[in-house]
Amino acid sequence: MARAPLTHILRSQQFDEGFLSIILPMAAEIKARHGENKWSFRHRLKDINVLLLFYEPSTRTEKSFDQACRFLGSIPSTTQNAGAFSSAAKGETLEDSIEILCGYGYDFIILRHPEEGASERAAKVASRHGVSIINAGDGSGQHPTQALLDIFTIWEKFGRLKNLNITLGGDLFHGRTVHSLIYLLGKFKGTNFRFVAPKELQLRPDIIEYLTKHKKERRLSWTFEESLSKKILKETDVLYWTRIQKERMNGDGEHIKNFVLTPQIIKFLPKESIIMHPLPRVGEIHPSTDRDPRAWYFKQAKNGLYVRMALLSYLFHDH
Ligand code: NCD
Repeated sequence: MARAPLTHILRSQQFDEGFLSIILPMAAEIKARHGENKWSFRHRLKDINVLLLFYEPSTRTEKSFDQACRFLGSIPSTTQNAGAFSSAAKGETLEDSIEILCGYGYDFIILRHPEEGASERAAKVASRHGVSIINAGDGSGQHPTQALLDIFTIWEKFGRLKNLNITLGGDLFHGRTVHSLIYLLGKFKGTNFRFVAPKELQLRPDIIEYLTKHKKERRLSWTFEESLSKKILKETDVLYWTRIQKERMNGDGEHIKNFVLTPQIIKFLPKESIIMHPLPRVGEIHPSTDRDPRAWYFKQAKNGLYVRMALLSYLFHDH
């Protein structure tokens, strides 16, 4: 079979059910085989050149992509803190940097940038060179590969993506992981969302518009809440918690006080529910919660490796 046509991965709306029906089992297979032999797939990305270009800090995304490349047989090149350690520090535009880098033989560039829309801009330039851009987070915009690993984790637990009660909380306004996840979960029939956030950090209108557009045909429902109640917790399958994105707002993120998960709070969650968080957490989940079997955030972060291996295999290897 032929390699998938060159694709940029810019937003989670791109992932349709057909794609997910391939990628989720593929990630599950990689996860199982990786447990037996981490090098099972070491030829998949042979001769593929990868650049990790990160203008914002990262632990999970950068390192899981880096390791995904290595386990697939490609040694990536990395510029961390690209704002300081690239010509951007001298004032070069992103477009010019991408134009130059595309001339050096990379097959794809995994880009994290503080400005929303940066990956779209980069993709415009990269398209002219046949280079693919993967958005690893663009400001408050999107983080599509995080949504993919989030959805994999949900699918792994529940075996389905339809008819789930998803409670998302924290900084829903600035949080790019929630944006991508809502766009993706909004594709599945019967998703029932609860959006829990202080008023000024509630969801952006573009996402509500998207949900409204598909509300009827997909039987979507949602409510806006200012705090978690016992009733909401009792009706939750997935509690997706996030940090307040202080770096993207003026002010001190004072809101956090009312948004800390503790064993006392999560005791109302159903036995079969899970707690997720894209991490890093900075106080909004108390570490004493980690021992609870429903705390899935570390499993979720680990899944990032397998899902990114699956995505890169899908994009760059015959399948
Ligand atoms: C998130 C990010 O960078 O958007 N982290 C991640 O990639 N797992 C979440 C965050 O920074 O809050």
